Amino acid sequence: ASTLRDAAEANGKWMGVAVADGKLGNSTYTGIAGGQFSSVTPENVMKWDTIEPSRNSFNFAGGDRLVDFAQAHDQQVYGHTLVWHNQLPNWVSNGGFSASELTSVMNNHITNVVSHFAGDVKYWDVVNEVFNEDGTLRPSVFSSTLGQSFIATAFRTAHAADPNAKLCINDYNTETANAKSNALYSLVSSLLSQGVPIDCVGFQSHLILDQVNGSAIQSNMQRFADLGLEVNVTELDIRMNTPSDSTRLQRQATQYASVVDACLAVSACGGITVWGVSDADSWVPNTFPGEGAALLYDESYQPKPAYNGVLTAFGGE
Ligand code: G3I
Repeated sequence: ASTLRDAAEANGKWMGVAVADGKLGNSTYTGIAGGQFSSVTPENVMKWDTIEPSRNSFNFAGGDRLVDFAQAHDQQVYGHTLVWHNQLPNWVSNGGFSASELTSVMNNHITNVVSHFAGDVKYWDVVNEVFNEDGTLRPSVFSSTLGQSFIATAFRTAHAADPNAKLCINDYNTETANAKSNALYSLVSSLLSQGVPIDCVGFQSHLILDQVNGSAIQSNMQRFADLGLEVNVTELDIRMNTPSDSTRLQRQATQYASVVDACLAVSACGGITVWGVSDADSWVPNTFPGEGAALLYDESYQPKPAYNGVLTAFGGE
């Protein structure tokens, strides 16, 4: 196989990319996104602030464009994200809703969005980033008003809206065993024992060069897989100080390959999504000034050593 998607597919895995709506007019960008990847995640357009900017007024235009793109390129859509404290419009975060009002606001959002995309979106990140680093529940309008029960409610509502979608919980800094991933493990264990419809755990995997431990990632994924859940790498990137140099780009390639190896070693790992096409498209430099070069293609859309690292780890050439 000479593309990432075909090489991944030969191992029964999908290979995904986060797509930015504003780049769909760039043919270099779309050529790579459509040709190399078998899964697409909307980087922003399915988030609450885009999709329901005012109460009960839905804007599906960007999401529909992504679905059209995916269907034109024979790709699955990995929906991101239904309930998140970030990119949440003020009418929700500052709405002053009572518990029963907020429950109906949340359920109305989930029901409308999941129903609209039913049959077109295969996975949903139902809740995103609900934990603090120490494993306590992150403060948000949802947790503060409803307590932890908003999580089970969100999954049940999403399942009712599309019983065929795979429903996931997604977070960062949960890739290896630590306080946060232990809390996630306890939560999903408890959701399963209550019969909550949860299918998958997403490990965002915003990683840092030279701090990537593939075997620790593998064993952590395996413990979640042993609960009967699918496990996915949902937002992979490996950032470094910029400008990059050839030795660090080589180490990055090896470290990307170690993440692929971890997924290959865990049969319940469905696939891997990278969080952007090229280094020109990455969120990293905006958030971490002086860091970047985190993706598989450079700023000129040329494949980096990391591209070859991923391809060959999947057995491609
Ligand atoms: O759309 C506006 C545009 O109109 C305006 O001119 C411009 C000026 O700042 O901002 C644009 O919005 C930006 C949006 O991306 C679209 O480009 C926001 O400012 C910016 O904050 C937003 O960043 C996104 C970030 O989530 C927000 O939290 C990134 O693109 C996106 O990659 C990032 O993705 C998150 C995942 O959803 C969850 N996990 C972490 C990951 C990285 O932060």
